[in-house]
Amino acid sequence: MPDFATVEYDTLIPNNVGLSSDKRVQKALEKWHPGYINWWNDLIPQRFQTSMVYLRTAVGVDPQGWAKFDYVKMPEYRWGVLLAPAVEDRRVPCGEHAGEKAWQEVPGEYRSMLRRLIVIQGDTEPASVEQQRYLGMTAPSLYDMRNLFQVNVEEGRHLWAMVYLLHKYFGADGRDEADDLLRRSSGSQEAPRMLGAFNEATPDWLSFFMFTYFTDRDGKMQLESLAQSGFDPLSRTCRFMLTEEAHHMFVGETGVGRTIQCTCEAMKAAGIEDPFDINAVRALGVIDLPTIQKKLNLHYTLSLDLFGQEISTNAANAFNAGIKGRYQEIKIEDDHKLAGATYPVVQLVDGKIVTTEAPALAAINMRLRDDYTRDAAGGIGRWNAIIAKTGIKYEMKLPHPGFHRQIGVFAGVRTTPDGTIISTADFERRRDEWLPNKADGDFIASLMKPETTPGKYAGWIAPPRVGIDNKPGDFEYVKLHEA
Ligand SMILES: [Fe+2]
Ligand SMILES: [Fe+2]
Repeated sequence: MPDFATVEYDTLIPNNVGLSSDKRVQKALEKWHPGYINWWNDLIPQRFQTSMVYLRTAVGVDPQGWAKFDYVKMPEYRWGVLLAPAVEDRRVPCGEHAGEKAWQEVPGEYRSMLRRLIVIQGDTEPASVEQQRYLGMTAPSLYDMRNLFQVNVEEGRHLWAMVYLLHKYFGADGRDEADDLLRRSSGSQEAPRMLGAFNEATPDWLSFFMFTYFTDRDGKMQLESLAQSGFDPLSRTCRFMLTEEAHHMFVGETGVGRTIQCTCEAMKAAGIEDPFDINAVRALGVIDLPTIQKKLNLHYTLSLDLFGQEISTNAANAFNAGIKGRYQEIKIEDDHKLAGATYPVVQLVDGKIVTTEAPALAAINMRLRDDYTRDAAGGIGRWNAIIAKTGIKYEMKLPHPGFHRQIGVFAGVRTTPDGTIISTADFERRRDEWLPNKADGDFIASLMKPETTPGKYAGWIAPPRVGIDNKPGDFEYVKLHEA
């Protein structure tokens, strides 16, 4: 048995899974490695390949000291395979096998279901790096640039995490799936990424912050439920990924918060009290609050679509099989089998939105989506506190889950952000009030000028309150080498 507490770090692929004594998997991963490096090198603009970036690298799995910070050239980042420590005598937490010993090998009957879940999770990881590939060129500061690259290299590591599981547990078809993860590409016509939100553009930094706040948070919820898997290697992989994921959402929350703060302070200084006086606010070179709300509407609703159908047989099967649990499954006090249990689900009945009780087993996706909405609401409150502190009268809101949806019961209707059903024609007529339009995008794009002086920030965003790794304000987070 490998010793999971120590990480083999002097090997091509850092790991704590005893790769050097698992020649088959080691060989398979070493074969996959050059394709991955090519993907990275083709992806990230050349000038940043030679930059020294102050990054954290996972070097252990002890929650107290799992990462070290240092300057790294991104192509030389040590992407590794890291599993959280095993939980002693862990059991399948839910479904018909609840209470049985957790599986260390793939149960034959659930093989294709498991593979599918791992592939879908794996597909999102490189997709987000692809979506964010050009943002380095317009970073509002070296601090933000460093955070972007940190998120990017860790999404790369998350791809490694899923690829390891595919190679280790799924033989030849696992290998083919791992190859396909580098073949598909975000926004591609021929081979797009698997989920809609991961084929959308991330055109500017506000989109990036909204994406890391809302879409990485979907990732968190998916990882949380896969961390409850009865297939123990998947559970441990996801548990360690969650440690890294927290920073991605921090980047999103503080990024939006700093944008809001800068806008409000500029309005105050200029004596502008009406947040809807958009032209006056934009003339200050900051992003008006209603446009920030529109970006929020867009990214939140795209992320809601990632939870799938409210009523889902696939989700019921995965839960019942013990392959995927609910959010914090082991903390929930019930039978963990959902025999006879119900859960409130929104439905459209005669053109009205109504809530009905559905079998809880079928409503697993809906429940996770509700958990997500609660989790996402926290940051909205903190953004509103930033606005309130400056005395500006404006509140950010999460739109109704029926607004701007493409998947699930609401895909067939159009609603206002507060959930009133309206005609498609009305929706299209008012769309620009609620979702970013071309002019909004052009305005934001006009602000996206790089600021590469250490300690300086673009005019549309406030500096962070503290530095990464407690570094001082003028710390050079990225040492650029002009190519
Ligand atoms: Fe990730
Ligand atoms: Fe992430």
